[in-house]
Amino acid sequence: MEDKKTLFSAVQPSGTPTIGNYVGAINNFVKLQDEYNCIYSIADLHCLTVKQDPQKLRKATLELMALYIACGIDPEKCIMFIQSHVPEHAELTWVLNTITYPGELNRMTQFKDKSRSHADNVNMGLMDYPVLMASDILLYNTAVVPVGADQKQHIEITRDLAIRFNSRFGETFVVPEGVFPKYGAKIMSLQDATKKMSKSDENINSYISMYDDSDTIIRKFKRAVTDSDNKIVFDPENKAGISNLLTIYSVFAGKSIEDACKEFEGKGYGDFKLKVGEAVVEGLKPISEKREKLMQDKAYLDEIIVKGAENARRIAYKTIRKVYKKVGLYRP
Ligand code: TYM
Repeated sequence: MEDKKTLFSAVQPSGTPTIGNYVGAINNFVKLQDEYNCIYSIADLHCLTVKQDPQKLRKATLELMALYIACGIDPEKCIMFIQSHVPEHAELTWVLNTITYPGELNRMTQFKDKSRSHADNVNMGLMDYPVLMASDILLYNTAVVPVGADQKQHIEITRDLAIRFNSRFGETFVVPEGVFPKYGAKIMSLQDATKKMSKSDENINSYISMYDDSDTIIRKFKRAVTDSDNKIVFDPENKAGISNLLTIYSVFAGKSIEDACKEFEGKGYGDFKLKVGEAVVEGLKPISEKREKLMQDKAYLDEIIVKGAENARRIAYKTIRKVYKKVGLYRP
């Protein structure tokens, strides 16, 4: 690998990814791939913290790899792999667990939210989720982690664990930084602009799936909640719905927020929502076509997956050896 800093990020293959995942994360994965040595993972082990249909999980995993490539991540430039193919992730999680306190995990917002939404299955994995995520990041000497705003706390605990391990056992881990997009770090629900857009939302009108067809996309945008003063201005605090739509538009139309505001000055909400929908349809069309084509070529995807795991393991193996040595595990 060239002498660039390492970037690591991952997406869970649970349900269908939304345009929130795209704007907050995957779109930036593509933009950053020349600047860093990029490693993009599919966090399948994380998915097990909530109940999954095994067959659907397997399909969603392959589909996410196809989506990564269809969005423009270049497998020749980046390492792309499936988390469970690199056993060092689970191994490092065990070691980091021994320096993590239950109180640190208990207070995580995502843990609290998910404990509420999955009250019948509050398992140890759900609580330990941030430690697995820290392991993902720390195994690769990662300097930067591009993610959406909802992952901020998880990046913080990753940094805390790296610093704690280093101070207890000597310099081992690079302490990573989170990078968040200036606009779109938190794409909101189309039905309730105070809530994050989420693939697990019960109301399917609240999110745009990356796999939605054109008619569905337009219909969902037409139904998006706005407000009653009929002014299209960017003001996330007082006009969350409109600002959310402007953010989505700016990313998919490839325009700045300022230009988008100018374009819609004096226009009505109905017109505006239709234009946002059309921009998303246009933006997703080539991605969908490429993804569908890739899904027909499982051999090609498997080749990338196998190569990705080999390349990732080469790095992860070195880190775990170092860690085991530092903590005092014997090896002949
Ligand atoms: P996940 O799968 O929930 O989401 C993947 C990425 O998408 C971002 N995101 C959003 N961004 C903007 N607006 C939204 N509405 C929105 N919804 C999701 C997330 O912030 C994330 O960047 N724990 C992680 C996956 C993970 C990971 C890692 C990430 C596992 N190991 C190591 C970075 C580094 C997760 O559940 O993301």
